[in-house]
Amino acid sequence: MRAVTLESVPSAPAVTEVDTPCPEAGELLVKVAAASLNGFDTAVAAGHLQGMMEHRFPLVLGQDFAGTVEALGEGVEGFAVGDAVFGVALKPFLGAGSLAEYVTVSAGHGVVRSPAGLEVGDAGALGAAGATAVVSLDAVALGEGETVLISGASGGVGSLAVQFAAARGAKVIATARPGAQTDFVTGLTDAEVHVVDFTGDLQAQVRAIAPDGVDAVLHLAGDGAQLAALLRPGGRLASTTGLGQDDVKGQDVTVHTIMANPDARILTALAEQVASGALRVPVTAIYPLEQVTEAFTAFGAGTPGKIAVSCS
Ligand SMILES: NC(=O)c1ccc[n+]([C@@H]2O[C@H](COP(=O)([O-])OP(=O)(O)OC[C@H]3O[C@@H](n4cnc5c(N)ncnc54)[C@H](OP(=O)(O)O)[C@@H]3O)[C@@H](O)[C@H]2O)c1
Repeated sequence: MRAVTLESVPSAPAVTEVDTPCPEAGELLVKVAAASLNGFDTAVAAGHLQGMMEHRFPLVLGQDFAGTVEALGEGVEGFAVGDAVFGVALKPFLGAGSLAEYVTVSAGHGVVRSPAGLEVGDAGALGAAGATAVVSLDAVALGEGETVLISGASGGVGSLAVQFAAARGAKVIATARPGAQTDFVTGLTDAEVHVVDFTGDLQAQVRAIAPDGVDAVLHLAGDGAQLAALLRPGGRLASTTGLGQDDVKGQDVTVHTIMANPDARILTALAEQVASGALRVPVTAIYPLEQVTEAFTAFGAGTPGKIAVSCS
């Protein structure tokens, strides 16, 4: 099959021919129709996961997938060949990802059937970013009327988090570069979004909107300690980039270090919200699998939202 692979790390992803995987006991073989790029893929290619997870080469990249069940491993229940499914490919090692014509996934975790009304291109860009946005907002228990600063709002996780935070009735302060990124972020929801330019004086811009500090921060990008300093006493911060409580010693704030788990309950809820029109998957570009090099270039060049990849 054709797949987006790395021969070593760090290295640039390339489309190559690899063996089509066989589903083991408890696994589904999924024919991938759509996938998407995540910050995780660029981190793996850059070699940032070395020493943290086993790497199996040629390493097939990719987390998100949407497609149809092609075959069932031994003992699988609850799925049938031909089912439309989507989710997040998770293995205890790196190398069996979803940026490929086929992927094997555990039937018990990270995959659900796609409901009617969920477009396959949206489904392939939803799982990882959507689950991370939900888990992060739940971690800080964002409530109606509270003020949240979302740092990294222009990215995949952030653009979904902005929509969730607005739907919870929060006052949203969101980071973006001036110009197209700012227009993209303000267009994510009908609710008012206060955009701040992260390339300028972030502290001053946020203080002008929330003089007493914000109730919560989603740290998806940027300097976590600086962001934590913008919280009111007793405020909460969720970090997807590894900030921990020890990094804010002496401050009266709580830090939640996020490790998102895209379980079936979260995936099903995300899918239903998209199918009902309550949530929009912010796909801003779609590339065929063969042009994934260009997709990674666009990902690294400030393209807002999600970059989708069509795999068949
Ligand atoms: N822990 C977990 O479970 C988990 C799960 C998913 C993701 N993550 C991590 O969470 C982060 C966000 O993921 P993602 O997929 O949304 O990545 P992404 O699509 O690359 O989004 C990151 C966004 O942040 C912007 N940005 C860059 N520097 C910034 C700064 N100093 N202040 C504010 N915004 C800035 C980027 O804009 P430009 O492109 O214009 O620079 C980009 O739009 C990544 O580091 C990813 O690895 C962790």
